[in-house]
Amino acid sequence: MIPFERLGWVFHSFGGMIYPARVKETLCQTLQPLAPDARILDVGAGTGILCRFASACRDDLQLDAVDPAAGMLKYCPKQTATHLGRAEALPFESAAFDAVLIGEAMHHFKDIDLALREIRRVLKDGGTLFIYDFDPSTWMGGLIAKGEKLLGEPGNFFVPERLQSILEDHGFDVSVDVFGFRYIVTASLRK
Ligand SMILES: C[S@@+](CC[C@H](N)C(=O)[O-])C[C@H]1O[C@@H](n2cnc3c(N)ncnc32)[C@H](O)[C@@H]1O
Repeated sequence: MIPFERLGWVFHSFGGMIYPARVKETLCQTLQPLAPDARILDVGAGTGILCRFASACRDDLQLDAVDPAAGMLKYCPKQTATHLGRAEALPFESAAFDAVLIGEAMHHFKDIDLALREIRRVLKDGGTLFIYDFDPSTWMGGLIAKGEKLLGEPGNFFVPERLQSILEDHGFDVSVDVFGFRYIVTASLRK
């Protein structure tokens, strides 16, 4: 397993640098239409990199970060409420959030179906889901996926079309942006 508990300083120091500009831009575009003071949940938030990007786009958002590793969460920005927890059992009431963000984290979730059911539960009707991950059918994505499996991680990587179909089955309307070995999914929960 990857020792995230002890890697907070690494993600805090370098994690933001390896995020492509496209993720920040698309995230801003995705967050712009949300209501004033919208509530946003970053799942598998780690050190809160997506929360940082989100608050750089809009300073009125209410940000929550959830992750099983306290050693990651302690680096989250001050304006973020942090919660210990897993995607498969989110410690929030139903219909609490306007948007859920997942950056480079979904492939670490052990049970994707359960995690998506939880995400659907905590999202409001019409809520937004933003996912950034790696395409295992590409050379680099495949290498990352193999490396994570070797390290004992769940390695739940999906080709974009497969993730689109899984999300549609969970009641989302989905749009996918693939660029090289990376992709962004923006989805909205059908009302
Ligand atoms: C590669 S880090 C990404 C962190 C952050 N989203 C980022 O963009 O830097 C993956 C994160 O997923 C978390 N994680 C692992 N299993 C999880 C689960 N079942 N539910 C939620 N988060 C999980 C880890 O603790 C870690 O912080």
